Amino acid sequence: MNIAIIGSGTMGSGIAQVAATAECRVKIYDTKKEALEKAKQSLEKILNRLIEKGRIDDIEKTRIQSNITYVESLKDLSDADLTIEAIVENLDIKQKVFKELESYQSDEAIIASNTSSLSIASIASALEKPERCIGIHFFNPAPLMPLVEVVPAVQTSSKVFEDVFSIIESWKKIAVKAKDTPGFIVNRVARPFYGEALRIYEEGFAGLPEGEAGFATIDWAMKELGGFRMGPFQLMDFIGNDVNYTVTETVFTAFYYDPRYKPSLTQKRYAEAGYLGRKSGKGFYNYSENAKKIPP
Ligand code: NAI
Repeated sequence: MNIAIIGSGTMGSGIAQVAATAECRVKIYDTKKEALEKAKQSLEKILNRLIEKGRIDDIEKTRIQSNITYVESLKDLSDADLTIEAIVENLDIKQKVFKELESYQSDEAIIASNTSSLSIASIASALEKPERCIGIHFFNPAPLMPLVEVVPAVQTSSKVFEDVFSIIESWKKIAVKAKDTPGFIVNRVARPFYGEALRIYEEGFAGLPEGEAGFATIDWAMKELGGFRMGPFQLMDFIGNDVNYTVTETVFTAFYYDPRYKPSLTQKRYAEAGYLGRKSGKGFYNYSENAKKIPP
């Protein structure tokens, strides 16, 4: 099966690895050459780590790598049976890319978005054949997280839904059908989780009133007492405060400003300051090499 991935960032590169591991021929496209190069290098590192852990051998590494081609034009994705888009979370940009892609592909090709919060119906509406469009929402990191939400829009044909559901299962993922509502299942449940943690921090109710101890205390409580693998602030740093804030803002707006999903000004300022989390070296925690306090 020919798979195309648009966007070779955090999610696109992970999804490409998943599909290539499942014996698909994968083409991955990004507007930035550096992003393609970074994805290639990061896959090399990930696969080497898997070899060190004894999970794969050199033959498997070569097989996975040779299943992936890095391309620099959207036209190169013309032979894909299934395309999964993982670019910036912006409706206009996604619609523009979908429209152009459709003009290169056959009528049977399925076009999917990995969007976290945008409406699949509105993305699909840009296509001449909207019934071919669906949401396939992976979680970060895609190669490790088993769950994938499969989200049919009102326009999606039942054949496209069934085909996608079985493709995702054949990739050894746990597929779950989700309705095309803002945040689908997991991101909707997660909004109040992050939001309430940010409010407790802003109100100074946890640990020391100022500084790291406040959010570190909340993270500690959620892990030690709540049984979570990561606390909310560690998770926001992991996802990226920019991405996490944008998802909250979209869900809040889409639910007609329901206060349950209200975004946090603290997180907005962090995103504006470039305190994005792990990817920028600083978020709620400091990840630079000489940082004293890196969360476990
Ligand atoms: P990212 O910022 O890591 O990667 C996006 C990539 O898309 C960049 O390499 C960028 O150069 C490329 N790009 C931007 N515009 C493009 C265009 N017009 N054509 C081709 N490439 C283009 O973003 P990330 O985190 O991978 O997110 C991608 C999508 O996946 C978003 O819709 C996001 O909401 C969703 N998502 C993100 C998750 C996360 O934890 N980061 C989890 C699940 C979904």
